[in-house]
Amino acid sequence: MYSSRFFLRIYITPQFNLFFSQYLCYTNDMTIILDGKKLRDKLLAQLEQRIKKLSTPPSLAVILVGEDPASQIYVNNKKKAAEKIGINSIVINLPDTIGEEELIEKIEELNNDSDITAILVQLPLPKHIDKTKIINCIKPEKDVDGFTVANFGRLFSCQKPYVYPCTPKGILLLLDEYNINLEGQHVVIIGRSNIVGRPLSQMILNRNATVTICHSHTKNLASITKTADVLISAVGEKIIEENMLKSDCIVVDVGIFKDETGKTRGDVDFEKVSPITSYITPVPGGIGPMTIASLMINTVELYNLQHSE
Ligand code: GUN
Repeated sequence: MYSSRFFLRIYITPQFNLFFSQYLCYTNDMTIILDGKKLRDKLLAQLEQRIKKLSTPPSLAVILVGEDPASQIYVNNKKKAAEKIGINSIVINLPDTIGEEELIEKIEELNNDSDITAILVQLPLPKHIDKTKIINCIKPEKDVDGFTVANFGRLFSCQKPYVYPCTPKGILLLLDEYNINLEGQHVVIIGRSNIVGRPLSQMILNRNATVTICHSHTKNLASITKTADVLISAVGEKIIEENMLKSDCIVVDVGIFKDETGKTRGDVDFEKVSPITSYITPVPGGIGPMTIASLMINTVELYNLQHSE
């Protein structure tokens, strides 16, 4: 049986839902699943065709300092995705005892190597290393994360950075794919990191949404999340329950962690929360794959930038 929410959704996004409803994936409660895996595959297939036409392949250098298991998995996934679509991928593993000067020298080497078109320093870095100092050694034209002050400054002053940070970009690509318009919507972001919350807030402001950022010091979180048309949670622990949301809101879950049984989980209690939402991202299979897709798109964008003169 189709619920009234289903018909409401057809009314809200008519072009998309009427023409493409056969491609949508629904839960039993007629909530639409925002399928990041499917969109990633589509975007990477398109990118592969574009890369085939380039005279030389783009090259992505990833610096991994130390042996953090989660970072090793992320870096490996980035490498695999790059190689699959024809991007040269170089992973530089460095010991966590490395000093700042040595790390900066490595980055300078990559900055000056014309064969390398994109550089990424995997975060987190060991505590004795000044993350901001290291990130800002990357040439802004090769800063594939968009994390340097030059790129962040552009984003925060309404100018175009060379590229937009990967996870926020992936979130917006996914919402766009489902024709979700943020204009005038109240978007609540939980988490204020440089990787997700802060850049995302600016990118969403640019879409004319009203943005609220919540974080670990926010008082009475539920009273704010209940007013969200769109809730984006990027915390890394289970904090979102069904009584914290208004009916038919859109939920984007950026958090990812292993629970006590070793199962991959997000910030949102999917089983309990999804019935009251109109759209929701799964974990895994939502924003994770979109971050990878955005990284590959950014790599090609920086290549084009460096080969346009
Ligand atoms: N660690 C977790 N996410 C990211 C990311 O998007 N970029 C980098 N450089 N490190 C990360």
